[in-house]
Amino acid sequence: MADDARSRAAWTGAGIAAGFLGLAAWLGGALDLWLILAALCAACLGGLLGARGRKAPPLRPAASTGRRGIAEALLAHVPDPVILVDRRTLVLEANPAARALLPALHLARPLSFALRSPEVLDAVEAALATGAPQRIAYATRIPLERAFEVQVGPLPVPDGSGAGAVLFLRDLTSARRLETMRVDFVANASHELRTPLASLIGFIETLQGPARDDAPARERFLEIMRAQAQRMTRLIDDLLSLSRIELREHVAPTATVDLGALARQMVDAQAPPAARRGAEVTFTDGDGPYPVPGDADELARVIENLIENAVKYGGGHVRVGLSREDDPRHGARIVLTVSDDGPGIAPEHIPRLTERFYRVDVASSRARGGTGLGLAIVKHSLNRHRGRLAIDSAVGRGTTVRVSLPEHGREAEIRDQPDPV
Ligand SMILES: Nc1ncnc2c1ncn2[C@@H]1O[C@H](COP(=O)(O)OP(=O)(O)O)[C@@H](O)[C@H]1O
Ligand SMILES: [Mg+2]
Repeated sequence: MADDARSRAAWTGAGIAAGFLGLAAWLGGALDLWLILAALCAACLGGLLGARGRKAPPLRPAASTGRRGIAEALLAHVPDPVILVDRRTLVLEANPAARALLPALHLARPLSFALRSPEVLDAVEAALATGAPQRIAYATRIPLERAFEVQVGPLPVPDGSGAGAVLFLRDLTSARRLETMRVDFVANASHELRTPLASLIGFIETLQGPARDDAPARERFLEIMRAQAQRMTRLIDDLLSLSRIELREHVAPTATVDLGALARQMVDAQAPPAARRGAEVTFTDGDGPYPVPGDADELARVIENLIENAVKYGGGHVRVGLSREDDPRHGARIVLTVSDDGPGIAPEHIPRLTERFYRVDVASSRARGGTGLGLAIVKHSLNRHRGRLAIDSAVGRGTTVRVSLPEHGREAEIRDQPDPV
């Protein structure tokens, strides 16, 4: 019963009791001053006792519903999973992120039905028993490998049934992935440098020892040593370019470059070394000019890397072409294509080609002077230029690499987001 109603009932009850007392005394003919006073006292006492049970006025219902609405909206927009449980670990509330992570999570059901991690459940029990916040790790393997840090804190439950607990799951998956990438990168770079260094040291020792007086062997070894030293130089050059491009990745280029003229220059420069490898490079200039906002040096390296790959891994006839396209979403774009009719690339490799040091065949890439960083450099440069890269290839059918860049002065209003690499 509401407090106001309870107090009103107490006053009414006390009044009626006093009235009956007075009536009985009057009917019995024994009405005197003491009895009237006793009736008045009974009425006052009953009323006061009723009023004492009344607590401080509660929040107005409209305000409390409003606050609950705000709390729910807040919870719904927290991107990390949040779960509230009562003191028996029955689920009181869960936000959409929690329900997406744990589909078996239902209100008023035990948390253990949905979250089968003894460590997390023990931490919840500990938080409920001691009132002290807990912090533990939680990882899922199916359907995806994800890592979380779970913070469990005691929570007063509004219905007054004692303390519950709130679980906050902080997603550490992408932070862990970045950390792994960094460690892998350092390991890969050191390994790539160590291999030619070991070979150099080996040849130096041979030249100092057994081959000391062998002139033809010395010539051969020196040639191999030169190639290994060049390989190290290329690797360091590529590592430095990559880190320079990464530093500038969020600085939009301010100059304007004619991609047509740049592509022609690169084809002219690459055709003679390609011819020595037995490949022909041709350029089909469309309806130029092809102005793009860009950094000429960086875009030249992009085109150079793509032609070099087509010559090295494709061979035969390499075709470089330019065209224009109107994309309803991304505005007017300039498209550069580099095609070869080489052996092509199996589909499982294609999504990984822009990863640092990823090569379909490490030995063949090394033999052709590759570092495994070329397409990573291309991808980062294109991110800076709001460009897109698409690799279309099939085994036995050759490869076509397509780069599209916004046309200068006709860029889409909505800026493209660079793709993460
Ligand atoms: N046109 C192509 N045809 C076949 N394979 C290619 C082609 N372009 C790239 N690749 C593959 O992609 C890998 C990564 O290329 P890249 O990042 O430029 O490294 P690198 O050329 O230094 O090996 C190459 O090792 C090669 O296996
Ligand atoms: Mg390359």
